[in-house]
Amino acid sequence: MLTTNDIRRGFLDYFGAAGHRIVPSAPLVPQNDPTLMFVNAGMVPFKNVFTGLETRPYGTAVSAQKCVRAGGKHNDLDNVGYTARHHTFFEMLGNFSFGQYFKAEAIEHAWTLLTKVWGLDPARLTVTVYHTDDEAFDLWRKIAGLPDDRIIRIATNDNFWSMGDTGPCGPCSEIFFDHGPHIPGGPPGSPDEDGDRFVEIWNLVFMQYEQVDAGTRLDLPRPSIDTGMGLERIAAVLQGVHDN
Ligand code: GLY
Repeated sequence: MLTTNDIRRGFLDYFGAAGHRIVPSAPLVPQNDPTLMFVNAGMVPFKNVFTGLETRPYGTAVSAQKCVRAGGKHNDLDNVGYTARHHTFFEMLGNFSFGQYFKAEAIEHAWTLLTKVWGLDPARLTVTVYHTDDEAFDLWRKIAGLPDDRIIRIATNDNFWSMGDTGPCGPCSEIFFDHGPHIPGGPPGSPDEDGDRFVEIWNLVFMQYEQVDAGTRLDLPRPSIDTGMGLERIAAVLQGVHDN
């Protein structure tokens, strides 16, 4: 059985072999972001790279970032203890492209890692796309061969990801694992979606905009990729249990 250490290492090595710089987790308290008390996603340490304020000596990166979601826009606190999948502290596995690749490569990498490297059964995976994102819909059909009824269009903020009230943002595509009919819950977009049967394991964010204030959204200098996969959730899946 893969341990969480094996899974973290496997993720970093997969993207490292695909040319991504392996970047250590930043501290939980953001070093240069007064808008957040704690890092709440893997992209936070790269916020200024997405917006073009900062450059790094690499164009793609991969990390396992320590995160806390106990307040602010991404607040999981009320779910902790009630679901099998929420934590206050967790690690987010993520690959990032700063203008180097976009939707097709992000989907290709995610599908390859989940189904070919880790061997998940494609029949147990369902994805969502932002309701107007025909490009992502077509890519999932073409790359993963998913039938139309397992590519669900979602019109809410669940499929438009932002780190906070301001900062980089864009439409996203989430990958769900079906733990099976013995667990209560329904597919994304259904009345029972909050159950633990269909668990979101990976979010691919197609970063295209910067929210500057409530009324101003600018284009990013280059379309970019930010992904986030909860280490503890994928560990439950790969270890054949449904509860983190
Ligand atoms: N930044 C992607 C996520 O937190 O889901």
